[in-house]
Amino acid sequence: MVDTHMDIEAIRREIPAVQGRSYLNMSYGPKPRAVTDEVIRMTRLISEAGPLAPPVVDEIDRVYEGARVDMAGLLGASTKEIALTRNVSEGINMVATGIDWAPGDEVIITDEEHPAGSLPWMNLAKRRGVVVRKLKLAPYETEGLLDRLDELITERTRLVCLSHVATKTGYLVPAREVCDLARGRSVPVLLDGAHAVGLIPVDVKEIGANYYSGCGHKWLLAPQGTGFLYVDEDYIDSLELGWIGANSTETWNLDTLEFAPLDSAAKFEFGTRDRAVFGALSVAIRSAKEIGIENIAERSWKLTKRLRDGASKIPGLRAESSPDPRRSTAISRFDTSAFERPDLMDWFWDEHRIIVAARDAWMRISTPYFVLEEEIDRFVSALGELQP
Ligand SMILES: Cc1ncc(COP(=O)(O)O)c(C=O)c1O
Repeated sequence: MVDTHMDIEAIRREIPAVQGRSYLNMSYGPKPRAVTDEVIRMTRLISEAGPLAPPVVDEIDRVYEGARVDMAGLLGASTKEIALTRNVSEGINMVATGIDWAPGDEVIITDEEHPAGSLPWMNLAKRRGVVVRKLKLAPYETEGLLDRLDELITERTRLVCLSHVATKTGYLVPAREVCDLARGRSVPVLLDGAHAVGLIPVDVKEIGANYYSGCGHKWLLAPQGTGFLYVDEDYIDSLELGWIGANSTETWNLDTLEFAPLDSAAKFEFGTRDRAVFGALSVAIRSAKEIGIENIAERSWKLTKRLRDGASKIPGLRAESSPDPRRSTAISRFDTSAFERPDLMDWFWDEHRIIVAARDAWMRISTPYFVLEEEIDRFVSALGELQP
């Protein structure tokens, strides 16, 4: 039995999507009833009273600014340092377009970045002549990784951008050590926390990140369209506005063409957006805190070990994630080439009602805290049906 500090059955009863199906892909997390109820409450309020009725305007403002406070609290940041965004890419693009790049300037990313954390730099390489240098993550050792990073930094390096938890293998980057090293070389760090926030404790001050982009829609179980960018207070002024619009400025004057951006990270929140949905982000954050992020991390990891133990007995399946428990999280990647089954994602759904991420010759299994041990065992037993 996984030793748990939580009433897992009670938690599961509140997540409708886990009834009758196993959720082993956290690209988009399933939503607890309370999260959905909050979306419905705000949608109904807007529908029935209209978006500009003063009490509705006040309520939207309350939930939106409340989400900023809750997200800041979750990350150990101040509210001034939080921009609310719609997704991780938006936050990364805010940093990418906010730096004044010159041809030949360098950015360091890893060789396992998601398109969200690699395309903005590839685009800058194409448009501005920025040089993208790649840090190899494998074989996932801390000392070697830091040495490789140290070697890649030059006097032209303007930024290091890497995932806190690597999307491909679940590798937990030694973020504090990376930030310490980069700071020692005067290079700011942007972390992509897509697969970290809601799964493991994240304290941006303790890590020492300069920028941290994340989302609500994965491990926090909040709606799609909720995200954030943390900008260290010392970087708010110097990070310029790549995109700008109403809500970005304190003052603007069409006659003199002068404007003054807000002095908080909220300056990045240009234009109209669905602010009402952020009430549900607050509900999700509160729920994660009630369960306890430490407890979530602990239970997810125990489920991961159960999965990896079981999978290690399947002939032909090759584990690709780091076995080091200090550098691993609840994402496990397997090479499935021996099975020659490019249809694994569909097969698991059609035959077993198990949701996994799989393509061509690999499979990525997430083990969120709300999954049962029996579901892991059922998944492993289904794997056993595949013939290498
Ligand atoms: C590391 C990482 N970054 C970003 C994203 C997604 O970014 P966005 O929220 O912009 O869709 C993912 C999605 O799987 C991811 O794994």
